[in-house]
Amino acid sequence: MEPITILHEKRVILGVTGSIAAYKAVDLASKLTQSGALVDVIMTESAQRFVTPLTFQAVTGRSVYTDLWQSGDSALPTHIAHVGLGEGADVLVIAPATAHTLAKLAHGMADNLLSVTALAACCPLVIAPAMDGGMYTHPATQGNLEILQSRGAWLVEPDEGRFASGLVGKGRLPETPTLIGEIRRALGQNGVLAGRHVVITAGGTREALDPVRYLTNRSSGKQGYALAQAALDAGAEVTLISTAQGLAIPVGATLVPVDSAAALLEAVLAHCDTADALVMAAAVADFRPAAVATQKIKKQDDGGGLTLELARTADILVAVKERRMQTGSPRVVVGFAAESENLLANAHAKLERKGLDMLVANDITAMDAGFNVDTNRVTILDSAGGQQSLALTSKARVSEIIIERIAKRLIQ
Ligand code: CTP
Repeated sequence: MEPITILHEKRVILGVTGSIAAYKAVDLASKLTQSGALVDVIMTESAQRFVTPLTFQAVTGRSVYTDLWQSGDSALPTHIAHVGLGEGADVLVIAPATAHTLAKLAHGMADNLLSVTALAACCPLVIAPAMDGGMYTHPATQGNLEILQSRGAWLVEPDEGRFASGLVGKGRLPETPTLIGEIRRALGQNGVLAGRHVVITAGGTREALDPVRYLTNRSSGKQGYALAQAALDAGAEVTLISTAQGLAIPVGATLVPVDSAAALLEAVLAHCDTADALVMAAAVADFRPAAVATQKIKKQDDGGGLTLELARTADILVAVKERRMQTGSPRVVVGFAAESENLLANAHAKLERKGLDMLVANDITAMDAGFNVDTNRVTILDSAGGQQSLALTSKARVSEIIIERIAKRLIQ
């Protein structure tokens, strides 16, 4: 698991309560720790019937707290455990949260270390309910959740599926990536892009030739997805218009699946007017088959080849530039330039021609940067003449830098 900037050295209190899903909290504690968070686990008495404190201590490398009367650790700001745990914590996550714990939290009851800490802590509260049978949908549980949400608690909706009892319904604890995605959102909710709408395009377009074939390119969509995650971490509302398949959708992003350049153009224009920023990370086809065969193209017995006639697609960024001249939206438009030669000269020309505020140029001939890898080496140009070259780094880090620059532009 790679380090995650928004979790780096964040103090996460992980409350674990008595559900069979407590075993999943071990993986959550482990992945949060691997991502750079400092995880202090509080277990209720019933949680310890499912998993031992030692398990959490082993994966977090920190003390595990089980007893209201136990004094705090030297790693905490004070020796009173519940105050020390709450003080300076960045987020309190209760996963799994039983119906009983939700009821106690909703009504301010304080009879164990977790419920007392929840009252003392001032940080955001993330609750991930998990319960069997119809307990989740019971009006009592729903009423308690409403109370908690009205106070600002961040609810992670449980999954539907098969329970330990064999019954099927809503109440399963989501898997670790979803839980981590929700924790990131809770941590980022007041970030530099809070209240802003960012539209990001990702992946290579597919231009149909016949019902089974298409023309495409080598773009994986990884940079666009990393940008969507970085924008979410900064608190933005994110629309991800994507051709990519098989990549995990960042938790909280609204996905608009598209395939061709024409569909991408339509989707981008449909979202432009409400967007504060547009980042065109998609690799858009410049040409499409001039005609799409309705039936599969068959080869001929004479061994002859096939000549394809290609037609130009519309330039989406040029269309956005024209639209923006009338509406003023999006305030910030960022393009990418994939170049195999004369990187900077071509990039400068594109910045100008497409009316961009920023352009991220990468050399696609490098093996460790550009298409289909997790790293990138880019130069960021801006319309004011600025130029920033970044050394080889993760696509996640490149995205954070781009998002920071967009946020700066938006507050100008
Ligand atoms: N782009 C676009 N519409 C197109 C082609 C590209 O909006 N029909 C966008 C891309 O998403 C990218 C930027 O324009 O943000 C530059 O894309 P790139 O493929 O590098 O450049 P092209 O404009 O296609 O020019 P060329 O292929 O001639 O280098």
